[in-house]
Amino acid sequence: MKRIFSGIQPTGDIHLGNYVGAIRNWVYLTGEYDCIFCVVDYHAITVEYPIEEMRRRTLDAALILLACGLSPENANIFVQSHVREHTELAWIFDTVTPIGEVERMTQFKDKAKQHRSNINMGLMSYPVLQAADILLYKAGFVPVGEDQVQHIELSREIARKFNGRFKPIFPEPQEILSMAPKILGVDGQSKMSKTLNNYIGILEEEGEIWEKLRNAVTDVNRVRRNDPGDPAVCNIYTIHRAFSDNNMLLEIDKGCKTAGIGCIDCKKMLFGNLKNELTPIREKALALGKDMGYIEDVLAKGAAACGAIAKTTMDEVRETLGLYIP
Ligand code: TRP
Repeated sequence: MKRIFSGIQPTGDIHLGNYVGAIRNWVYLTGEYDCIFCVVDYHAITVEYPIEEMRRRTLDAALILLACGLSPENANIFVQSHVREHTELAWIFDTVTPIGEVERMTQFKDKAKQHRSNINMGLMSYPVLQAADILLYKAGFVPVGEDQVQHIELSREIARKFNGRFKPIFPEPQEILSMAPKILGVDGQSKMSKTLNNYIGILEEEGEIWEKLRNAVTDVNRVRRNDPGDPAVCNIYTIHRAFSDNNMLLEIDKGCKTAGIGCIDCKKMLFGNLKNELTPIREKALALGKDMGYIEDVLAKGAAACGAIAKTTMDEVRETLGLYIP
């Protein structure tokens, strides 16, 4: 079976953007692939974070993956820092990665801007660690959101550079993009993110979700109820495309353009569908949260299985490098 690898940062607030762009797609793919999903805590430390919350955030991220439908039966789920080979391979990849390539990464440039006082080597090497995550398992496919495509391209380049300089032992991984369109934050302007506080958290209460939706920016040119709107520039319509069926999409497209459906009604329709999808997830998360021992077991099992693969790859890598192996 073809293998996929993907990772999610333990940021503390996993939101609709993460869900639509990544997690929901991961669940779809479990039937067809040998799946490895990782909570990437070593990536998360490249920016400032509340140290006392990291443990909790890591377990919560795993809990959310399980609540969304991943399980030890359909995937290996583990924490990056539990498999030491990730950072070991990242170091080796550092030596084949041109600095110019990492410097031009959009995410690096954005984060360097956001964290001017702490532009560290880890921030720069972040996509190299990501390449190590993927290639440690020789995964050929990586389901990610659009914002990660550049990093996957770099992973291919790193594989190519390594293979060319030493021996061809790594595949060149391909991204798998979710069919759902990329949704923006409730400001209708920027990518949904915790930092920008424009997100809808996937475990948020229905009341909170409605409040955020109610205030969310729509087509800015549709000022009055009777103004016709343009779904193509409305973020609410984009979210509809991720959660509503074709019939509803057609109805809304027409209703918006003819001013037959107002923004609030359109939001109510979306809210209904969001509720249908997110309420079972929130309920499952609540139930899982009562037994953190189970989550810990899942992660231990995942780390054991992935650790075995990682060890084999690293043995091969050390040999390929021509190192002295006692
Ligand atoms: N950089 C990814 C993100 O921010 C997370 C990530 C880390 C990842 N390692 C990975 C994704 C490996 C796919 C494969 O979303």
